[in-house]
Parts: sequence; structure tokens; C-alpha cells
Amino acid sequence: MNHIFKQGAAPDKPVLLLLHGTGGTEHDLLGLAKIIDPEASVLSVRGNVLENGMPRFFKRLAEGVFDEKDLVFRTEELRDFIIEAAETCQFDARNLTAIGYSNGANIAASLLFHYADVLKAAILHHPMVPLRDVSMPDLTGVPVWIAAGTNDPICPAQEAEELQQRLDAAGASATVHWVDTGHQLTMEEVEAAKAWYEKICISINKQDN
Ligand code: MLT
Repeated sequence: MNHIFKQGAAPDKPVLLLLHGTGGTEHDLLGLAKIIDPEASVLSVRGNVLENGMPRFFKRLAEGVFDEKDLVFRTEELRDFIIEAAETCQFDARNLTAIGYSNGANIAASLLFHYADVLKAAILHHPMVPLRDVSMPDLTGVPVWIAAGTNDPICPAQEAEELQQRLDAAGASATVHWVDTGHQLTMEEVEAAKAWYEKICISINKQDN
């Protein structure tokens, strides 16, 4: 998969897995990662699917209606890519914190819905429930932070609530941060994500090192 890997000044810190929104590229969230943790290593990936020329992480049948067969296939493809990239780029695949926006948040949620050991933590900006007919892995100890807009027409508020419930039911510890906006990624939520990351992800990282 097209990607950028940047070795951070502090290789023991979480490796930030960046997953862009529809129409984005692996360059989009690099600035955001610098705000969240300027010392962390970064693996930023471009989705392999094109929708009218716009990169995505999986196909959809309509706005908000996912091609679930492709979603499952692409989730596995991304998992395999991460394992391969950890070898070639020499980072710790067991220390990944995903940061995804919109379609990127949805594939990150799908990684959580399928695999217990790919993501150690996740920051999901404006996600949906990626799929419902799946038996969830044991996500005990996985913290997840969700930013949701109270007026988001693409990812309605009840999707964020259901996603939190499903993650918590699988043992994760999910938090929803509400923003009084629509689907856009705002600086206010990025700052809230940073505060959560510093409190939760960095303290787990210190315990594990
Ligand atoms: C998706 O297709 O993943 C969501 O509807 C969000 C989007 O990318 O527009």
C-alpha cells in the first residue's frame, strides 16, 4: 500500500497509524500527528480503493452503506500490510495507536472489530459502526476515543453511540467526545484527542516499557 513511515525521536512511544478520509492521501494527517505527539513514529497509509478517483480504504454501495465483503477483505489487507511494514520499517507492531478520520476511522474501527492484537489504542474522528454481523474479539484493555458531531449528516450521532456500546461490550474502554459541529475535523477535537492521548496512551505506554 502507498504509505509514509517517519521514525520519531522517541521510538518507544506509540507508533501513530494515520488513516485519511475519502479523497485523502497519506499526506493528509501528518500535521495532525505532529500535534498529537511530535516525538512519535508515524505510519501513514493510503487506501487502496478508488471511488471516482478518490482514495478510500474500502468500497461503499452508497453514502453510509458499506460493501461489507470488500470491507472485510480490505481490513485483512491493511492488517497484513501493517505486519509487513513493521518488518521493513523496523517499528514495534504491538504499539500502534490508530488515528483515523471518517473513512479512515471506519477502517480503524473495522480493525478493532476483527482483531484483538492489531491496535493498542485508537482515536476515531467521526466514525460509524463499520459492520454489525461480526463476532467481536476480546478488546480488554484497548482504549478508544471517538469524536462525534452532534450535527454530522454523514456519521449520525446514534452511530457513535452504538459504536461506543459495541466496543465497550467487547471489553474496550471507549469514550465519545461530542462536538457541536458536522462532519469536519476541527482543531477543538484534535486538542481534546491530544489531551486524551497524553493521559491514557502515554500512561499505558510507560507501564508497558
Ligand atoms: C465512509 O464511507 O466510510 C463514510 O461514509 C464516511 C465517508 O468517507 O464519507
